[in-house]
Amino acid sequence: MTVRPILEYPHVALRQKAKKVRKIDKSILSLADDLIDTLYEVGGVGLAANQIGVLRRVIVIQLPDEEEPRVYVNPEITHREGERDIEEGCLSIPGYHAIVTRSIWVKAKGLDRQSKLIRLRAEDLLAQALEHEIDHLNGILYLDHLESHQDLIPNDHRPAEVAEVGA
Ligand code: NI
Repeated sequence: MTVRPILEYPHVALRQKAKKVRKIDKSILSLADDLIDTLYEVGGVGLAANQIGVLRRVIVIQLPDEEEPRVYVNPEITHREGERDIEEGCLSIPGYHAIVTRSIWVKAKGLDRQSKLIRLRAEDLLAQALEHEIDHLNGILYLDHLESHQDLIPNDHRPAEVAEVGA
């Protein structure tokens, strides 16, 4: 259990595709623990392994209204439905946020820590976090969904009541 430094844009690991996990062994469970510790330290919604420099397909998501963090190994979006524009930030791009077009709801699948296949339908923040974190595993950042980097908004200019959506 270790808090790891979060890599920041334009670090090359954020642009690489993470490798599929063949077996959920001790090293993968330890990676998941480090991701959770690191996420708790900085207080975001989600974190992908690329963001701490490990190119394996593991993500963690902590929703504000849930007690336990979610861990997904080899997660995939299997269906997307609709479009909505929502505010989004990223722990690897500190100081900015933007309005990004995401799906209204998604279906996803992945393995849990016990290697059990989990299938879920998600909407709201969970759908957004799944799309954002799975993008990370494919070397994609929310910047890539913007028409221009000029669409980035410095966080100083955001209203104080807007919740942190960094992931
Ligand atoms: Ni992110």
